[in-house]
Amino acid sequence: MSDQANITNQKDGSRFAQAAGDSILRAALRAGVGLAYECNSGGCGGCKFELLDGQIENLWPEAPGLSERDKRRGRHLACQCRALGDITIAAPSAGEYVPQQPPRRQSAQLAWVRDITHDIREFRFVADGAADFLPGQYAMLDLPGVTGSRAYSMSNTANGQREWHFQIRRVPHGQGTHTLFDRLAVGDADDVARAVGAQPGNAVGA
Ligand code: FES
Repeated sequence: MSDQANITNQKDGSRFAQAAGDSILRAALRAGVGLAYECNSGGCGGCKFELLDGQIENLWPEAPGLSERDKRRGRHLACQCRALGDITIAAPSAGEYVPQQPPRRQSAQLAWVRDITHDIREFRFVADGAADFLPGQYAMLDLPGVTGSRAYSMSNTANGQREWHFQIRRVPHGQGTHTLFDRLAVGDADDVARAVGAQPGNAVGA
């Protein structure tokens, strides 16, 4: 796979670059292109697109957001696919999906944890960049050993200390929360993608 690929959306004529490590959806949002989406984590099917030309890599073939019927019809999830070279797609888009703050990848370290209840824990990360998200936004966490990103709403507000707080409920058999609760230790490095979308409420399950 080359480091950068150009993606053309035939539906709206937009064209944007995908950097190494980005999904098609994340590349679009970084470029200020409003591809339709909801969860950004493979669960809802809100980011379906058709591949018209070129090759893609599917990062999570079993993602629940895509039905067998979708697969037979040649549909894919923009949040779970990467372009392998230049591609042309047909994907719905709208102005409401254009991010007010384009997402940016940050690296973060788990700095502090505390148990709130028997199955809810607060995790505080300190990132290498600004914590200047908006109320209602969430972060996509790439956790070690976990397939795909996980979306969690911040429980704090924008701050100058680069702190990102999350109050997360353990999900039985959930890969993401298993890693957070049982494998990550204070001081571990983690990758945090900057807040994207506008999902009110607390933790989104993993
Ligand atoms: S945005 Fe929900 S599956 Fe991609």
